[in-house]
Amino acid sequence: MLLAHISDLHIGQDYRGDGGVRALERARRVVNYLNGLPGDLDGVLVSGDLADHGRPDEYATVRELLATLRFPVLACPGNHDDRTAYRTTLLGEEAGTEPINQLHQLGGFTIAMCDSSIPGRNEGLLDDTTLTWLDKVIAESEDPVLVCFHHPPVPMRQPFIDSILLRNPEQLAEVLTDEVVAVLCGHAHTAATTTYAGRPLVVAPGVVSTLVLPVEGDHSIDYGLPPAIAFHVFGTDDTGGRGLITHFRSL
Ligand SMILES: [Fe+2]
Ligand SMILES: [Fe+2]
Repeated sequence: MLLAHISDLHIGQDYRGDGGVRALERARRVVNYLNGLPGDLDGVLVSGDLADHGRPDEYATVRELLATLRFPVLACPGNHDDRTAYRTTLLGEEAGTEPINQLHQLGGFTIAMCDSSIPGRNEGLLDDTTLTWLDKVIAESEDPVLVCFHHPPVPMRQPFIDSILLRNPEQLAEVLTDEVVAVLCGHAHTAATTTYAGRPLVVAPGVVSTLVLPVEGDHSIDYGLPPAIAFHVFGTDDTGGRGLITHFRSL
């Protein structure tokens, strides 16, 4: 199973008065790269912050852009997204402010795309509705499970992002059984890997910008580094193992 993982498109982000041109150009560069691959992917994960201000016009652009991908797209909201506009404009569903949790079966895996956003806040929470849903998804799955949401549940060792992480990592850890192969996040705008609750945690790099560490400067966000993506490859061949290896690309 092979997934591309992209995150934090922030479509509509105004960079020095450009009205979102730069953000859209970077997102297009990523989409074009994936569409131009000589081989096929099982899907493309988009782990939140699809729009910058959560406006319907931004989701119209996101929808148009993602519709051009020749692979299945699996997405979840981030703190910059708006549940109502995301639902109505991107998903074509009725308006509503409940968490947007979506279940996918792909390439022999169950993929739970969870909504860790808190309306009006930058930090994240997997609320009771979402944790109950996830618990059931994991219990009922006959396949290995991937859990994906926006806010990393562990410190990134960078003060800015560490002030707006997932608030309830302990509650999430309680629902993760052995069936869960990996946890995949966005939000931090930096390619980063660690472990969480005894399994791999991979944070996708940002498409729109890159988080930098204190050692790199005191500006937190770098707009000059190129957009980057991850490829997650899962072991399903006769070597056994469901293990995950992640490869990163700067575009
Ligand atoms: Fe973001
Ligand atoms: Fe975010």
